Amino acid sequence: MLPPKPKLNLIVAVSENMGIGKNGELPWRLKAELKHFATITKSTQSPEKKNAVLMGRKTWESIPTKFRPLKDRVNIVLTSNPNLISDESVCVCPNFNTALDLLDNMSDEIETCWVIGGSSIYAEALKLAQLDSLYITRIHKDYDCDTFFPVISSDWKLSTDPRLSPEIQEEEGVKYEYQVYTR
Ligand SMILES: NC(=O)c1ccc[n+]([C@@H]2O[C@H](COP(=O)([O-])OP(=O)(O)OC[C@H]3O[C@@H](n4cnc5c(N)ncnc54)[C@H](OP(=O)(O)O)[C@@H]3O)[C@@H](O)[C@H]2O)c1
Repeated sequence: MLPPKPKLNLIVAVSENMGIGKNGELPWRLKAELKHFATITKSTQSPEKKNAVLMGRKTWESIPTKFRPLKDRVNIVLTSNPNLISDESVCVCPNFNTALDLLDNMSDEIETCWVIGGSSIYAEALKLAQLDSLYITRIHKDYDCDTFFPVISSDWKLSTDPRLSPEIQEEEGVKYEYQVYTR
């Protein structure tokens, strides 16, 4: 029997004013939130499989060099200029469809592909019928941002995941909560 195609999920941390980035970085420093990102994107049901993370070139560049590629995950980067990514372990793709084809060809090793940003990558993913779930960290604060999350259509409804704490989190005096949406 053929292995199931990798599931496609999206994960983002967003401010109250829908901001996700500023000057090529995250507008906030929330260590536990980053740990949550790592835990969720690494977690698989099958011990034999890994997950993938799919990102735009600027998001790749926003990851500190010592932390990239993101470990224990297949890193896929979209760019029109493959020469910009020198790391040989990274899968560099010229467009979204090539990345989706690559994922299908890796069905025996990849369980879930996490779309991890930035803006245009999120926008493309939100148009896909196969996008399964949105994992959104809602930060209860406005930040000065130059990069934003697209509008989320009303088809997406708040759902639950037992892995997500239902409590309001607080770090450095900033409150936030973990949400998941499905259709
Ligand atoms: N809060 C969060 O959860 C979160 C998550 C991710 C990122 N961020 C923040 O967001 C910012 C970066 O995001 P961004 O929106 O500016 O950039 P981005 O989406 O990460 O990267 C944009 C680049 O990706 C490539 N690209 C995009 N769509 C493509 C396609 N369909 N085919 C081929 N290449 C494609 C292009 O690269 P080339 O120009 O090389 O062709 C484009 O210039 C940073 O501030 C980062 O910290 C925040």
